[in-house]
Amino acid sequence: MLPGKPEDFRTIWLSPDDEAIVQIIDQRLLPHDYRIHDLRSWQDGVVAIAEMYVRGAPLIGATAAWSLYLAALNSAGNPAEIHAAADALLKSRPTAVNLRWAVERVLSRLTTAEKSADITRLARLEAENICDEDIEISRGIGNHGLELIEAIAAGKNGGVVNVLTHCNAGSLATINWGTATAPIYFAHQKGIKIHVWVDETRPRNQGSQLTAWELAANKVPHTLIVDNAGGHLMQHGMVDVVITGTDRTTRCGDVANKIGTYLKALAAFDNRIPFYVALPSTTIDWNSRDGIAEIPIEERDPGEVINVYGIADGKATSVRTTGPDTAVSNYAFDVTPARLVTGLITERGVCAPSEDGLLSLFPDMQST
Ligand code: MRU
Repeated sequence: MLPGKPEDFRTIWLSPDDEAIVQIIDQRLLPHDYRIHDLRSWQDGVVAIAEMYVRGAPLIGATAAWSLYLAALNSAGNPAEIHAAADALLKSRPTAVNLRWAVERVLSRLTTAEKSADITRLARLEAENICDEDIEISRGIGNHGLELIEAIAAGKNGGVVNVLTHCNAGSLATINWGTATAPIYFAHQKGIKIHVWVDETRPRNQGSQLTAWELAANKVPHTLIVDNAGGHLMQHGMVDVVITGTDRTTRCGDVANKIGTYLKALAAFDNRIPFYVALPSTTIDWNSRDGIAEIPIEERDPGEVINVYGIADGKATSVRTTGPDTAVSNYAFDVTPARLVTGLITERGVCAPSEDGLLSLFPDMQST
């Protein structure tokens, strides 16, 4: 189970024994095995992102930032090596915009170095800042989302609030607290009766392997469901609110998130159930407007669909589910149009999923 106190949990950190090692949790192995994995080079960082040792938009960005620190450290601040690392990191996963945001932020900080000896120190500082700020951002999302949950609880006279979530937009997808889960954790800590329907989220099962793991560790009541169950639960009054995360949100409020999110939004719309998306501002792509046309959707290895990972006789194993003569496609994300979204929960407050809504909270982005 989750080690330490919830407030001390982190998904990425510099090794306390060796500042040439960045440490992560190998999320591929959860919930069956909790293993710390060492990143010793920027190439290790690229593999960790592409192979999903780490995943979730904010953590992908933080891992990229720490990978640039490793590039600086191992090359004594060589700009060519740092730019080669940045290029490779940018190609490691296409949909989460936090990746580009973090890489550009570290590179821009490095331009302030007065001498090459400063480069590694500045890269480390920026990676640390990105992580510390992400925790505060999640806290902000948690507090604003908590108000929504409190209002639903009040409307039910203190009855259990049933939240449905998709994928893992939890502590494991950020540095701590998560985006979609932050309001859930804060509500639970406050004593509000809450229960979470966890979509298993095929093919990588981020719901059954990760969200369920961290909700269990934090003792939040939850139930695992197959991805297609949500509509049925909504028709029977068993869902009060849907809260998901996002990998990229356009300035007009279209939301890219794990494949299947769109279908949950359609079902919520049909059943007049509020559908909220929780996001840090680092996930907003201010340069895109039309999510369906403009957001690149990652296509991953068909092996993720064909095989299912689990535990048998105490041993982690992977089994094939289909025959050899079947074509397979594996789109990792889909786009939910803004018209299906009730509101966006950000660190600065909740807003309408529209350009006006987002700019009301982030007026500084008007001219972007
Ligand atoms: O493919 P993944 O596991 O990186 O996808 C993650 C998601 O879709 C999350 O819901 C999203 O990144 C929000 S994380 C706070």
